[in-house]
Amino acid sequence: MPSTGLIDLRSDTVTHPTDAMRRAMAAAEVGDDQYREDPTVTRLEERAAELFGKEAALFVSSGTMGNLVALLAHCGRGDEVILGDQSHILWYEGGGAAALGGIVFNVRPNAPTGELDLDDVGAVVRSATEDFPATKVIAIEDTHNRCGGTVLPMGYLRRLRALADERGVAIHMDGARVFNAAVASGHSLAEIAATVDSVQFCLSKGLAAPVGSMVTGSRAFIETVRLRRKQVGGAMRQAGVIAAAGLVALDEMRDRLVDDHARARRLAEGLASLPGVTVDLSTVQTNIVVFRPPAGSDFAAASAAFRDAGILASGFGTRGLRMVTHYQIDDAAIDRTLDVASRIFAGRASGRPVAAH
Ligand SMILES: Cc1ncc(COP(=O)(O)O)c(C=O)c1O
Repeated sequence: MPSTGLIDLRSDTVTHPTDAMRRAMAAAEVGDDQYREDPTVTRLEERAAELFGKEAALFVSSGTMGNLVALLAHCGRGDEVILGDQSHILWYEGGGAAALGGIVFNVRPNAPTGELDLDDVGAVVRSATEDFPATKVIAIEDTHNRCGGTVLPMGYLRRLRALADERGVAIHMDGARVFNAAVASGHSLAEIAATVDSVQFCLSKGLAAPVGSMVTGSRAFIETVRLRRKQVGGAMRQAGVIAAAGLVALDEMRDRLVDDHARARRLAEGLASLPGVTVDLSTVQTNIVVFRPPAGSDFAAASAAFRDAGILASGFGTRGLRMVTHYQIDDAAIDRTLDVASRIFAGRASGRPVAAH
């Protein structure tokens, strides 16, 4: 994206397919995937399973659908999922697991860096009785969106695995941005996935595919997920056209995430140096920057001032504003964003931000 055009930092979901993806989509070999006859979808599913070290994978239309069908496969009606109070599943997925699956949400506090407290989780896991719903799954998020793109440490994941094994419950990972977690931590996708039973990951965020997510897990689990996908109307036909872009995403777009992380870091440090602007730099571990305008500022007005200057950010409730780097954000876009931010917040340690042009 040229730095003179619109700079869209709302999310990495705004990324457009690359030229290589468009070529692959045009040339994709297709078949009817409900007959399991789409060779491109099959290739994508096999590639995903191999990368994550799982027996099988299933292509679904979105991260929301991936989380939903995974939870529907882990839980029956009245069963319980333990999840964080800042989790995407709780905040932004329309309560689908409760609406469609009768699944009970047992909501526990996320630490500022996204972890669930292991003692707390251990204390609330429960078996079905005449009174209690049975805990079937613990849902975690890596990277953690509302916690600012933080990465779950491997030691933590292994301790959670041990706890889940001891208590006989499964772990589902909302790994919408697990590729960012892998790049930032230096752990492979398979190492991360080995600590959980199922992973949902998105092809359509930092990897820039136009559509699609995958669910990975054991072969038997993925067969159940396939049935759940059908039940929610998510089975597709000649989906190879979009799966082709997903294959390019997996093969060509993972290594470059390191550039997004470096730009997010520079953006965060630049914002943190402005008067009154607060950024918890310890949470800026991947491609997400959450910052608070100076005390007393109207966040919506700050967002509008950025928009007037051609820069789009997302509102993040009382947490401030969120900016997300991705492959359409180059160094010049970061320079321009910081330049605009310095004019919006210049001398504004408190009070309403002024428009910057
Ligand atoms: C952490 C997380 N999980 C799940 C999703 C849902 O993905 P989708 O928008 O493809 O439904 C998102 C989307 O932003 C996300 O950030």
